[in-house]
Order: sequence, then C-alpha cells, then structure tokens
Amino acid sequence: MSKITAAITAVGAYVPEDVLTNKMLEEMVDTNDEWITTRTGIKERRILKDPKKGTSYLAIQAAKELLQKSNLDPKEIDLIIMATATPDMPVASTGVHVATQIGATNAFSYDLQAACSSFLYGMSTAAAYIESGRYKKVVVIGADKMSSIIDYTDRTTCIIFGDGAGAVLMEPNNEGLGLQDEILRSDSIGRESLKIEAGGSITPPTEETVAKKLHFVRQDGKTVFKFAVSNMAGVSEQIMKRNNLSNEDVNWLVAHQANKRIIDATANRMGLNDESKVLMNIQRYGNTTSATLPLLLSDFEKNFKKGDNIIFASFGGGFTWGATYLKWAYNS
Ligand code: UT7
Repeated sequence: MSKITAAITAVGAYVPEDVLTNKMLEEMVDTNDEWITTRTGIKERRILKDPKKGTSYLAIQAAKELLQKSNLDPKEIDLIIMATATPDMPVASTGVHVATQIGATNAFSYDLQAACSSFLYGMSTAAAYIESGRYKKVVVIGADKMSSIIDYTDRTTCIIFGDGAGAVLMEPNNEGLGLQDEILRSDSIGRESLKIEAGGSITPPTEETVAKKLHFVRQDGKTVFKFAVSNMAGVSEQIMKRNNLSNEDVNWLVAHQANKRIIDATANRMGLNDESKVLMNIQRYGNTTSATLPLLLSDFEKNFKKGDNIIFASFGGGFTWGATYLKWAYNS
C-alpha cells in the first residue's frame, strides 16, 4: 500500500474592502511613500474597519469561499485549525466560532498561535493528522486583524501590517503529492524583539498598561530583520539540499510577506534567479501575519500545475520559523 500524504486540495481567501495606502499613512505619521516602498515593498494594505468585527469575520469569509470553490459540505470537515495571532478574545477559541458559523458541526477546532509562522505550523499539524489516517478533511485557516493591535502613531509598525485571511483544505493523497518535508524551528531569543507587552499572564491589563500603550505590537525591526534573513533563508536552502532540489526543480517560492528585502534575500540564497518563481503580493496587503501564505496561494492558484514543487518559508515573532516542501496536487 502506498504511503498516505497530505495534499492541499482547495484554497479560499478574503481581504476587507478598505484600503490604507502609503499616501494616507503620510497624513498620519512622519513617513513617506518612497521610504515605505524602498524599505519594505509595501504600497497599500487592507483594513477591517468595522469595530464590531474581529478575526473570525475574516476567517469565516475565507472559509466560505473555500467551501463554495470546492463544493465541500461543511459537515464533512473533521477539524479546523485556526492559525491566528489576533483571536477574537483571549478566551473562547476563535476557531470554534468559525467552525460553528460555517456549519462544520461534525468538526472540532482550536487556535494555534506562532505569530507569522502560525499557518506553516498549522499545515504541519494538519498533515500529521492526515498521514496517520486519523482525519481526512482538515481545514487550515490563517487570519489576522492586525489593525486591532497596531498603534497608528508608531511609524515603525503601522506602515507594515494589514488585515486578511486565507484557508486551505488538506486531504489524503495516494499519488505522493502534497507535503513532502519540513524544517520547523523556534527560539525565544526573539521574545523581547517582537511582542505585545501586556494583556497576558505576566502583565495583565490595567489602566496603566493602557495608558502606556502596552497592548500594541512593538518590534525592534533591525534585529527581527537580521534573524529573519539568516533563519528563513537558512532553512529554505537546507530543505532544498535535503530533498536534492536544484533551483531549476523549485517551481515556486511561497514566502512570508513581511518585507520584500527579506524575501529577495531568501530567493537569492536558494539560487532562484527567475523572479517569476518568487511569489509576491506584499505590495497590496502588507504583512497580514498568519494570512500571508494562504493569501499567496489564493492569488497565484491559477499558475500552479499538478506536481509543481513549492517551497513555503516563514519567519515570525517568538522567534518562529520554518520551510516546507510541498508538491501541488491539482490543476485549477
Ligand atoms: O512578520 C514578522 C517579522 N517582521 C519582520 O520581518 C520585520 C523585519 N524588519 C523590517 O522589515 C525592517 O527592519 C523595517 C521595515 C521594520 C525597518 O526598516 P529598516 O531598514 O530596518 O529601517 P531602520 O529601523 O533601520 O530605520 C532607518 C531609519 C531610522 O532613522 P535614522 O535613525 O537612520 O535617522 C528610522 O527612524 O528610518 C527611520 N524610519 C522611518 N522613516 C520613515 C523608521 N520607520 C520609518 C518610517 N518612515 N515609517
């Protein structure tokens, strides 16, 4: 009997309608379009403006598109892994609400938090369940309402992040397609470099934490940049070597969209001279944290052919990072 592998069999996505451009940010903080474009590659981001709507709203829209595109009856879903750094609430899982709202009444669901690597870690978990034979239909959703944790007076963070969501269906495959290999890592050396200081069990919310703006994301950009380049590029190169993949063999690089310069450095280290293989939508969405990878899959789905070799790469707060080698399973 051939080994069961876990393949992506459908993709859905959602971004909110409201656009926040670099020009608009020029009115809000001391920055300019030229600086943002050359330092990050970002031109605009999407923002979920309705204060009553949280990350679950974004996730539900992405999951609904997935259901509609794949003709999947939500009652057939076994598990929904909700990858997010911005849950609706600290307690009462966002994934549970998403599952109920889309009618996945036979599924169980939970949230998975590993900052910008949440989606890659979620794919790994989904694949393990499928390869073991325990579950057959697992949905992995990456969604973040980053605008809910951004200080729009801080020019070092507000220019980077945006809101969005993407979802994939993972199912067993007996043709050897789907997830082939992965290298996932983490190191708390980055704990102080990218964080929200308050609101957790060490510094619960108080009037003082609110006054000091400790509930927003703060990052030491330079340090994060340095670690992102060396670690994300490192595991991407390593996974190619381990699987005897040359730069010709790799069809697509699906890398976390945090900064165009980090993605370029990773592609360079992998020897990907052909720019068209290096997928990018950072210019339109900025860094959507857990959503960047599935948003790329959704935007470029039409380009993928059955059997294509895709390298996923991510780097995020914690630090968390990784690279995954996946063979695409269908022609769209
Ligand atoms: O997804 C999670 C992982 N996150 C990341 O991967 C982010 C990694 N870091 C980065 O992408 C970059 O470090 C940033 C985009 C955040 C910053 O770019 P940088 O090239 O590292 O700039 P910098 O922090 O070294 O700042 C350079 C200069 C500074 O001025 P001085 O000290 O040289 O006078 C900053 O004050 O640019 C200034 N600056 C800005 N100027 C205009 C910082 N932010 C801005 C801004 N507009 N928004």
